[in-house]
Amino acid sequence: MAAAVEIPLLTPYKMGKFNLSHRIVLAPLTRQRSYGNVPQPHAILYYSQRTTKGGLLIAEATVVSDTARGYRDTPGIWTKEQVEAWKPIVKAVHDKGGVFFCQIWHGGRVSNTSFQPNGQAPVSSTDRGIPPQTQHDGTVAEYSTPRRSRTEEIPQIVDDFRLAARHAIEAGFDGVEIHGAHGYLLEQFMKDSVNDRTDEYGGSLANRCRFPLEVASAVVDEIGADRVGIRLSPFADYMESFDSDPEALGHYMVESLNGLGILYVHMVEPRMSIVDGRRQIPHRLSGMRKAFKGTFIAAGGYDREEGNKVMEEGYTDLVAYGRPFLANPDLPKRFELNAPLNKYDRFTFYTSDPVVGYTDYPSLDSTA
Ligand SMILES: Cc1cc2nc3c(=O)[nH]c(=O)nc-3n(C[C@H](O)[C@H](O)[C@H](O)COP(=O)(O)O)c2cc1C
Repeated sequence: MAAAVEIPLLTPYKMGKFNLSHRIVLAPLTRQRSYGNVPQPHAILYYSQRTTKGGLLIAEATVVSDTARGYRDTPGIWTKEQVEAWKPIVKAVHDKGGVFFCQIWHGGRVSNTSFQPNGQAPVSSTDRGIPPQTQHDGTVAEYSTPRRSRTEEIPQIVDDFRLAARHAIEAGFDGVEIHGAHGYLLEQFMKDSVNDRTDEYGGSLANRCRFPLEVASAVVDEIGADRVGIRLSPFADYMESFDSDPEALGHYMVESLNGLGILYVHMVEPRMSIVDGRRQIPHRLSGMRKAFKGTFIAAGGYDREEGNKVMEEGYTDLVAYGRPFLANPDLPKRFELNAPLNKYDRFTFYTSDPVVGYTDYPSLDSTA
């Protein structure tokens, strides 16, 4: 195909044992349409619309246990019912030739007692809470004061991730992405603005990274390093979670993950900077990309042009697209043709409707 040769994003790439036909990845996108934490049949259409033969998809953040929850109607993967409910969704992606990873997640203190079993306090690295946050729709999210996990409880949480990874494989997923980004539990340990522990999980950088690395190690032991990726956002400050030295944190993590031989690292770019009226990628992930031995995925604010540019420069192996893929189920096709994109509607990102704002974004075929 002539177009594929000219467009860096549309060149093939071998990620471990997976033969990807292009470099455009579906970023994990929480959609809050998994009623009662059980994946629903409408997700079959949603994910299959976004599947291409040889394309990599990362499923929305999926909670590893009942204490991991912090939002309404996010899918889980700790019960048999949830595993069974994922199966037809994963099958639909595989039937179209896609490669499908499940993002496994613990929210930690980004929660409140109403989501917790017996109304208990959410668990975290700390007992300091998050002030209420105004959402994009104007509503205010309230978070409960968390409970600092006892040192001896941590192996249980590590085990929840291990079991979630096992369940993901049982459901048919090709692998898992450990959610180590955006202020959730793993970051609550990694980042020094949050972690105020005095045990072996707090203090030094090595101590703060101990818990995420134990999670990664347990998941690798359970399902094999060739099926494990991790998402990290050292530069982000979501949910009051930031680090005084993000470069050092990112470096320490990728060097340590090299030792585990994991398949990929998925890095979120620093918040966007607009130069000359459009977003420019500041290339702050370069050092981490050079240090990491596996596949590197970059995400955050990319468009077609910027994605092709970083691909040509060898800045990353793959680019994950969030909002553009949410609104354009046939994003790789549109990039191939340089076709205009549908605009996303942020007001339906997290609404419950099984169709509106979910599976009703048109593809080029349907608008032709
Ligand atoms: C509706 C929505 C849901 C998201 N859910 C998740 C998620 O479940 N896990 C995650 O790691 N990031 C999540 N993100 C972040 C995206 O994966 C992505 O990093 C972000 O949208 C920036 O990329 P973009 O500029 O291509 O949209 C979400 C973003 C949006 C807009």
